[in-house]
Amino acid sequence: MKFHGKNAIVTGGANGIGLAIARNLVMAGASVCIFDLASENPAERASTIGAQGCVADVTDRSSLESAFGLGPIPDVVVINAGTVGIASIANTSAELWNRTLNVNLTGAFNTLQIAAERMRPTRKGAIVLTASTNSFDGEADLIAYNATKAGLLGILHTAANELGPYGIRVNAVCPGLIRTRLTAEAFSNPAPLRDYFRHIALGRGGEPDEVAQAVLFLASDLASYITGTTLVVDGGQLASKFGTWGGAADSFDGQRWTRNS
Ligand SMILES: NC(=O)c1ccc[n+]([C@@H]2O[C@H](COP(=O)([O-])OP(=O)(O)OC[C@H]3O[C@@H](n4cnc5c(N)ncnc54)[C@H](O)[C@@H]3O)[C@@H](O)[C@H]2O)c1
Repeated sequence: MKFHGKNAIVTGGANGIGLAIARNLVMAGASVCIFDLASENPAERASTIGAQGCVADVTDRSSLESAFGLGPIPDVVVINAGTVGIASIANTSAELWNRTLNVNLTGAFNTLQIAAERMRPTRKGAIVLTASTNSFDGEADLIAYNATKAGLLGILHTAANELGPYGIRVNAVCPGLIRTRLTAEAFSNPAPLRDYFRHIALGRGGEPDEVAQAVLFLASDLASYITGTTLVVDGGQLASKFGTWGGAADSFDGQRWTRNS
């Protein structure tokens, strides 16, 4: 996967999955700019991986437009900025609902619309959305998050349909549980992890680099006939309906299941 001579933008690129995507793009030869909130010091974070950084709030159109305007027309745009808040339906406040929709859904739409406007005249390019396995399931206590991640599939399909005639491909990755600050609490609790990972065929959580590799594939020329689709990066979680692990030959070491037979 080669990105020499290509310009890439990664929103939410100062941390976690976005930072791993930006780093892998840089290693593959791309000129990368990460967009993130001022509080995350995107320029400073970018300098550690050989990228550029730009302050941009995806919920604020004018901030996003100025950030896009500062750089060259992108060949690759990764729409990754996201947030999550845990609450039951009863306890989901209007503030949590609106904040989650604003960042994950309106922010993705804002980024897509501006990116498409800039890329269309070049008649080429690739856009990758970070959706989730929660685009497909109904994990409890995440109603706002789940609604946004399911909504991203509507954005994905419509954008692939409208931008295909301009040579712009649009795809999504759907990560399962990946070790980032968003999931740090889950990863630090071995007891619930044991049960959670029982339902993951590979028996463990994922790392940001494992999502980044899938994003690079979808953004690369190797995926030249792929648009409008999702690539699930979940260790087999969605495939493992009744669970995989927990038999007499299986053991859990706090982070992963192993089969001893
Ligand atoms: N970690 C997981 O298990 C997991 C699983 C599936 C999907 N995802 C998705 O992956 C993406 C990245 O999540 P992560 O786990 O790396 O979390 P993270 O918190 O480490 O990174 C999210 C980044 O988005 C940025 N961001 C938030 N609001 C923003 C805004 N308004 N404008 C610009 N940037 C903003 C944050 O500052 C942060 O740098 C999210 O869309 C998340 O929903 C994560």
